[in-house]
Amino acid sequence: MQELPNSKATALMQFECAHSPRPHANALVRPHQRFTLEQRLTEAIRAGWNVFQFPSKMLQGGDLLSDSGTTTLTLEQFAASILGDEAYGSNWGYPQLVETLKETFGLEGAWKYYIFHQGRAAEHALYSQLRGRGTLVLSNGFFDTTRANAEANGFLAVDLCDTSVQAFKGNIDCARLEENLKKQSADVPFVLITITNNTGGGQPVSMANLRAAQKVADTYQTPLLLDACRFAENAWFIKHYEEGYEQHSISSIVHEMFSLCDGFVISLKKDGLANMGGALVLRTDSIFTRSHPDLLENIYDHQVLTEGHPTYGGLTGGTIMTIVEGLKYVTTDQYLDGRIGLVRDFGTYLTSLGVPILEPIGGHAVYIDIDRFFAGTRMRREDFGGISLTALLLLKGVRLCELGAFAFGKYDSSTGRETFPPHNYVRAAVPRQKYELQDLYHVAECIQTLYDRRDELPKAIPTWGRDKTLRHFKARFALEW
Ligand code: F0G
Repeated sequence: MQELPNSKATALMQFECAHSPRPHANALVRPHQRFTLEQRLTEAIRAGWNVFQFPSKMLQGGDLLSDSGTTTLTLEQFAASILGDEAYGSNWGYPQLVETLKETFGLEGAWKYYIFHQGRAAEHALYSQLRGRGTLVLSNGFFDTTRANAEANGFLAVDLCDTSVQAFKGNIDCARLEENLKKQSADVPFVLITITNNTGGGQPVSMANLRAAQKVADTYQTPLLLDACRFAENAWFIKHYEEGYEQHSISSIVHEMFSLCDGFVISLKKDGLANMGGALVLRTDSIFTRSHPDLLENIYDHQVLTEGHPTYGGLTGGTIMTIVEGLKYVTTDQYLDGRIGLVRDFGTYLTSLGVPILEPIGGHAVYIDIDRFFAGTRMRREDFGGISLTALLLLKGVRLCELGAFAFGKYDSSTGRETFPPHNYVRAAVPRQKYELQDLYHVAECIQTLYDRRDELPKAIPTWGRDKTLRHFKARFALEW
């Protein structure tokens, strides 16, 4: 009898690892819930092998889809959330949040604080209110939804990453930044620096680079904004890898970073250590607000229309309190040493098993280099090997995220051609305060087993959604053996 393609998948995934994840590693799964390869296969096929559509309750192996909003709250955060005030206007957590943002980022002078339910809502407010006031935004690296927000509002989003400094591969290329601004600064409403650069591998930006970029932007009278999701992790890398900062506290480094910008957007689901939350914070007197005198009020109105009163901004009073506590904890050495050390040890273990990853290892995730993973096999970029890898791992209850040829590529339906992005990664993002090394070793061993059998891995054929925007969230695939 001919073997069915899907039985090949279960046969391939029938292996044991040296390390098992702790039974309680995934808080969603009660210890008595166990799923078989076949049960997961049924769900994976139903989901079109799309990791976003796969039920999280089946992920006992490790859910490394995202580090966003997946934090396990501390007891202090839980306790604070119970004291949340659910008033419709000016809940008592709001002034505490504003005060904590001021203290965390060292914001001196007058700033406006707009709270949103998550980062992209803050980005949407910014880009939609700037619609028609420029054509181009320059950055070291836009994340997928950030790029989509810029593009949906009529801006071309241009990445100018400079990976030449080994410890700071998230830097922006200041020469190219200057070239662009010299030509058309009037078309650029702001320069955006993402710390750390998620698209480029969770890589940090150095203080020297931030300073240099600020100088260039200033020369051309262009505001500088930060996409600050992982600001504390970025500061940790500056402290440990940039000359002259060894003796500085994380807090003082954060203050120095933010003294250079005219404003920032932040998803508080990352270094806010919260399950929800975002903010847009702007200096009230800056080149940015002087160029757009109506901007602050327009954003306020947008917020009331889309999120709620600006003093809660789409968040519950309890969630606001978790952010207040989260921001106090995230800049401590104790937290950051453990956090970044865990991600580093996970990546180092993967390297010791032979799996090719991006080095140095970033702050929040390990990025598997898919082009090197499949080098020497029949797998070409258009076969979406990264998707196949993430698809098969679902059968072991492990979830990673493809951020490469499929997520950042584009399909032209008129020519039938794919355009590929510069990098082809699968990301293993480590949720904060949730996993221990043993859990991550298990994930690493699952990946290694597939790496050792990379010649046998199937191609991923998009069966629906290849031509859609943000296609990685919704596409369906078949595996071709
Ligand atoms: N900017 C960066 C650099 C991000 O990584 C994200 C989210 C956002 C903005 C948007 O924030 O999710 O609160 O709306 N990144 C998540 C991830 C989703 O998995 O990397 P959000």
